[in-house]
Amino acid sequence: MLVHIKDLIKEAEEGGYAIGAYNVHNLESILGVAQAAVRACSPAIIQVSEGAIKYMGLKPTMHIVTTVAKNVAGTVPIALHLDHGKTMQSVFECIRVGFSSVHIDASDLPLDENVRLTKAVIEVARAKGVWVQGEIGAIVGGHGSAGDFIEIPKADPKDVIEFVKATDVDTIAAAIGTAHGTYTNEDIDLGLLKAIKQKVKKPFVLHGGSGIEDKKIKQAIKEGVRIINIGTDIKTAFCRTLISMCAANPEETDPRKLMSPTIKAVEEVVYKKMELFGSAGRCKFAPVET
Ligand code: G3H
Ligand code: ZN
Repeated sequence: MLVHIKDLIKEAEEGGYAIGAYNVHNLESILGVAQAAVRACSPAIIQVSEGAIKYMGLKPTMHIVTTVAKNVAGTVPIALHLDHGKTMQSVFECIRVGFSSVHIDASDLPLDENVRLTKAVIEVARAKGVWVQGEIGAIVGGHGSAGDFIEIPKADPKDVIEFVKATDVDTIAAAIGTAHGTYTNEDIDLGLLKAIKQKVKKPFVLHGGSGIEDKKIKQAIKEGVRIINIGTDIKTAFCRTLISMCAANPEETDPRKLMSPTIKAVEEVVYKKMELFGSAGRCKFAPVET
């Protein structure tokens, strides 16, 4: 069922675990996340980027996620979130159609400008009961990309503290050494995370969750990470599976035969993350068929 993100995060705070925010791009990846949630009995956040919304359409996205959450996930709770909202227009549209949470990403602007835009979103969002994620220290890389090394800038904890004080965001993302994609030199700076968490009591969102070793993810959850964004691992599982299905069945004319295994591939990736993040088995009710 579709729920408000605040209900998931409240329980994650109490239980000391993290919820995955899984980037989806099409019906197959939405089904993969929902099936994993049911199998793991785990709450999940389904998130869409502006690019995914452009591809699927905003209303179709809202309707498909709502329907899959109700009919596939049953009583397993799923929340819908806008990831990296770069324009006020896309953020406000997502608020209007019923997302329970939006990310206003003005992290590449000067701090005062980031504060100003984030506050403008909060003013509208609060009136509708929608949660807002803010970001400090732009997270580099690109979803789906991989490589040996990139320059990974980190946030200044003083800026994070000042930003949260000035905006009162509901959740906070900050650059702490991870990147979008999988890079050999990305890592979680636990010292920086600790320094931020000592002063900032808001739920911390870890971006760039793909490509980080499991041990570090577990340590970060202990230090207060409550949402972990996973994009690249999902894209990769989907594309690798589709490519090999097409290569093995070049004469196939039924898209369902080529696409069905991609749903399972996404499910497998997400299921493993749910176990790693400690969200598996946290559903209060057994899934029901609707
Ligand atoms: O906003 C989405 C994420 O931060 C995904 O990062 O592609 O490294 O998993 P990732
Ligand atoms: Zn991100």
